[in-house]
Amino acid sequence: MTCPWERRYAQRMQGMSGSIIRELLKLTEQPDIISFAGGLPAPEVFPVTRFEEATQRVLAEHGAQALQYSTTEGYRPLREFIVEKMSRYGIKARVENVLITSGAQQALDLIGKVLVDPGDVILTEQPTYMGALQAWRAYQADYVTVPIDDDGICLDDRFIEALRAGPKFMYILPNFQNPTGVTLSLERRRKLVQIADHYGIPIIEDDPYGDLRYEGDHLPPLIVLDAEFQEERGTSGNGRGFVRGNVIYLGTFSKTLAPGLRLGWMVAPEEVIKRCVMAKQGMDLHTSSFSQMVADEVAKDDYLDEHKLLIRQVYRERRDVMLAAMAEYFPLGVYWTRPSGGLFLWVTFPDWLDAAELLKTAVEYKVAFVPGAAFHPNAREGVGHNTARFNFSNAQPAQIEEGIRRLGQVLTRVLAEHQEEERDPELVMA
Ligand SMILES: Cc1ncc(COP(=O)(O)O)c(C=O)c1O
Repeated sequence: MTCPWERRYAQRMQGMSGSIIRELLKLTEQPDIISFAGGLPAPEVFPVTRFEEATQRVLAEHGAQALQYSTTEGYRPLREFIVEKMSRYGIKARVENVLITSGAQQALDLIGKVLVDPGDVILTEQPTYMGALQAWRAYQADYVTVPIDDDGICLDDRFIEALRAGPKFMYILPNFQNPTGVTLSLERRRKLVQIADHYGIPIIEDDPYGDLRYEGDHLPPLIVLDAEFQEERGTSGNGRGFVRGNVIYLGTFSKTLAPGLRLGWMVAPEEVIKRCVMAKQGMDLHTSSFSQMVADEVAKDDYLDEHKLLIRQVYRERRDVMLAAMAEYFPLGVYWTRPSGGLFLWVTFPDWLDAAELLKTAVEYKVAFVPGAAFHPNAREGVGHNTARFNFSNAQPAQIEEGIRRLGQVLTRVLAEHQEEERDPELVMA
């Protein structure tokens, strides 16, 4: 007897659909497409030789340990490395505050498993990272959203209104946000931690791009501002500023070393880490010991810092090429952000233009981007329809120039057709 699978799926599957980005990545597998769609780092900057040497050393010196089961919390030397790395940003964590995860994506999932009950509301920026929405939908979360502008999430009446929905936590991407490339200003960072404290709502600070700043000063993470705020008020508990407060910070090696490692980390109060450890045991027991030991070997002796200099140089150039090409080839009426870091910029087309339709034509011209609507959780029909995310890290500069030139052609054609239709509506009816 064949089994009726449809009737056997859990209720939570009803709210879930595959990620549009993953689907688009399939499209970009066609070799002749110039893709600005994925969020992929440049493969040319992967430190392959360093990985090769590190792998050999790990196998020669700790082969059995690298291939054995390990602790859920993660490889201790790597956690110590992260503590040291975080301290440079002012984050006073102890090893007990750090959990190694299988990418930051798993940390998002763990947060869902540990914090979200069906029907809980999560406050997010709008637009926001699709992968987080996807992870928490599986735990039957609802979303309340607040728009962002050039300084990040708007802390005005709309924010206060969103708080009325009683969110379980807020999800904030302070640096070079995915998808817009926007950075949360220092003033708003301070205000946000104060509001979070006032209303007793935790913040999930997702920061995969903080290390990829191409100009300007690094801004303090929310977890640091929160700790300072707690200390000023004498509520930090132990008086030593160790991670105790309202913020859970997420980091990753995906953008600085290699996403295929699947290595990220969570910095949180010890009690939260303990819960996440329990939840992680049911998911994968622990993150690959082998990956962790190789990453530790690769990153040590300041190699990661050196490597970041190279990455920033390569990505800054690509961002500049994309910005210059947009200025040259995109017609009037199209706008875009100018991010100081990260991997993405955000384009806004005229209001009447549907980015998903535009993508279909763009693919005929062998160029791809991600239409923006998917980054808007439970948006009213049509919200964000005229926006798109563009990645500038993956394509080579010459391809970026060529891809934007082709899109400029597509846009010029589509805008001209629209003007024609406006002049003579009968033509469209015919
Ligand atoms: C905002 C954000 N969070 C989390 C992730 C997941 O990263 P990881 O590769 O560490 O799982 C990404 C990946 O693009 C991202 O953009």
